[in-house]
Amino acid sequence: MTNYRISVDLADRSYPIIVGSGVRNELAKFLPKEAKRAVIVTQANIPLDLKLNIPNETVLIGNGEQHKTLQTIETISQQFAKFGLTRADVVIGLGGGMVTDIAGFAAASWHRGTAVIHLPTTLVGMVDAAIGGKTGVNLTQGKNLVGAFWQPIAVICDLDALKTLPDCEMRCGLGEVAKYHFLTGDDLLALDLGARIARCAEIKAKIVSADERESGGRAVLNYGHTLAHALERSSNFALAHGEAVAIGMIFAAHVAHSMKRIDDARLAYHYKVVRDSYNLAVTPAKLDHQINRQELIELMRHDKKAVAGLTFVLDGPQGIEVVSGVDENYLHESFDAMQLP
Ligand SMILES: NC(=O)c1ccc[n+]([C@@H]2O[C@H](COP(=O)([O-])OP(=O)(O)OC[C@H]3O[C@@H](n4cnc5c(N)ncnc54)[C@H](O)[C@@H]3O)[C@@H](O)[C@H]2O)c1
Ligand SMILES: [Zn+2]
Repeated sequence: MTNYRISVDLADRSYPIIVGSGVRNELAKFLPKEAKRAVIVTQANIPLDLKLNIPNETVLIGNGEQHKTLQTIETISQQFAKFGLTRADVVIGLGGGMVTDIAGFAAASWHRGTAVIHLPTTLVGMVDAAIGGKTGVNLTQGKNLVGAFWQPIAVICDLDALKTLPDCEMRCGLGEVAKYHFLTGDDLLALDLGARIARCAEIKAKIVSADERESGGRAVLNYGHTLAHALERSSNFALAHGEAVAIGMIFAAHVAHSMKRIDDARLAYHYKVVRDSYNLAVTPAKLDHQINRQELIELMRHDKKAVAGLTFVLDGPQGIEVVSGVDENYLHESFDAMQLP
């Protein structure tokens, strides 16, 4: 089985991403030389166990977004203190995006910045959450409102973890994987899963290297996310993020098509990837009765990424880019085309 090594190039904060089966066993190679201790932040149901050659302790966090809080950061930081973790030591995040976001933020604030290594165990984590240094927690007022940019020193994606990942979590990851089909011209469908994950990680690594703090280019990673966030909110999170992103990309393709930014073939390609290849739903069928077009438009108008009127990430002749001031009529045409109420 092939292993892949990708580099996130950020001057003195550059780091490798390793993808392959069994690569968790290479963890020791990536520990900081001066680290005398490690804390592994994980959840009780994460299947991988890690072998470390320095004293280490495991700290468990709860499952589900309601545990992605400042309270959890405080609790695990107190455990770091009891264990005597210093700034020269290392934090290891072993789990999905929820774990790596928490471990990353705890590491960013522990002694004002301690090294962190991520071992993502979900598809979302491997292609998205563990890469790029966005860390943080939720408030009751909204998701990911408190956080920091804190790059890991390595990301180790052991494909063995995916063997136990529940179907619904796999589908969520495929929503994000589908996104990468539209960001570059590559034929990701020609690759096996390992190579495809490595390629997605590489695409994200390149985008992050070019725009670490999302002052421009990094925003393309939000492709499909404008309607997705509105759908998640209006369904009270009954629709999972990746499922919402799948629908959001189809919607964005229709908007771009209505605006004559893309042709029929490119619109059809969106259906081919999202619906035919990844078998993802392209309409929120299970929420039909709850869908309210006007409510969705209002939510999209207030999207935190919206700077000037309705803002979307849209495909077009120049590739995918941020487009502001989108006329509401195009949204109605797209809702009609998708036969949404
Ligand atoms: N920092 C970023 O750039 C970024 C990007 C995308 C998402 N995120 C964040 O990531 C989180 C979502 O991440 P996620 O989709 O990985 O969800 P998650 O971390 O909540 O994991 C989903 C579920 O799968 C379980 N699980 C994890 N790995 C498993 C495995 N190998 N086998 C069996 N069960 C396993 C978890 O315990 C959990 O119950 C959100 O909080 C989101 O805000 C962050
Ligand atoms: Zn996403």
